[in-house]
Amino acid sequence: MDRIAVLTSGGDAPGMNACIRAVVRTALNYKMDIYGVERGYAGLVKGEIKRLESRSVSNMIHKGGTFLNTARCPDFKDIEVQRQAVEALNAYGIEGLVVIGGDGTLRGAKDLHDNFGIKVMGIPGTIDNDLAYTDYTVGFDTAVNTVLWAINNLRDTLHSHDRVGLLEVMGRNCGDIALYAGVAGGAEYVLVPEIPYDLDKISSSIKKSYLRGKTSNMIILAEGAGNRDEIAEYIGKKSGISVKVNNFGYIQRGGSPNMADRVLAARFGYKAVELLRDDSSESCAIGIKDNKVITVPFDQVQKAQKHFDKRLYDIAHVLNQ
Ligand code: ADP
Ligand code: F6P
Repeated sequence: MDRIAVLTSGGDAPGMNACIRAVVRTALNYKMDIYGVERGYAGLVKGEIKRLESRSVSNMIHKGGTFLNTARCPDFKDIEVQRQAVEALNAYGIEGLVVIGGDGTLRGAKDLHDNFGIKVMGIPGTIDNDLAYTDYTVGFDTAVNTVLWAINNLRDTLHSHDRVGLLEVMGRNCGDIALYAGVAGGAEYVLVPEIPYDLDKISSSIKKSYLRGKTSNMIILAEGAGNRDEIAEYIGKKSGISVKVNNFGYIQRGGSPNMADRVLAARFGYKAVELLRDDSSESCAIGIKDNKVITVPFDQVQKAQKHFDKRLYDIAHVLNQ
């Protein structure tokens, strides 16, 4: 394979630039032509494709977001729209593709392979860590550390004013960001979609904690676990102590990637190009298990069941009271 392309798709994640850089530099090392597709599948369909050189990725390793831009392209589920993408690849003579993104992006990759025989390597890039087949996705570690920074600041104010605060974090239907940030930040309550919670119990526990002299409490709410305003209002009414709502939003999605995400991005990007140049390899998703880079066929990506770390969740609720 002499000519390949790379794109980022879905929500941006810290480390996507480091990953594009790894793909570009590995391809050039093997004397392959490397192209960048702008705005994910949306740009691919429109043929927004440009040649990348080693200098195209200079000074990119530490930058958040994605310099190729990204997009949501709901129309890409349509096989006729996918056909347009394939035509664009053919027009540039591109034989293989690396896609960096989350669950939806890997579904798109599977379709390009199943419907048109395109050789595609999928790299998990999302802050959500919601892909079951891999221990970690590029961007998760940085996002958790950014949330941790917010928790530290929030803690100062909650403690100074004797208040209860609720911080909503992202993760779609996955509670990993909330869990890891909650454990590391010492939040008293972590609400995640994977585990049922009892607001009456939480309210009475907060009330009791005040009676024994503990005057500030922090609740971390994963966005998929419920409505932040309704939860805060309910706890406020039941406990008699008002709950200040904080929504962290996009701030947790940007920022310079940390060491873990940069190294993961480098390992994944390098592996993707190695697989593309190996004629005996098949399209697949790349991941990490027990610190080893692994490959998984696309049809097993969606079948894998995400394991939520209930033990860590239990530990958090023992340590943080
Ligand atoms: P992420 O990749 O982070 O999960 P999305 O769910 O928005 O983000 O998916 C990214 C893009 O992948 C979508 O905008 C769409 O273009 C494509 N995609 C998502 N689901 C499918 C699917 N079932 N079939 C084909 N393409 C899909
Ligand atoms: O997948 C990343 C993510 O930030 C999720 O945590 C969140 O649910 C979603 O994207 C937000 O999507 P949008 O980019 O459309 O605001």
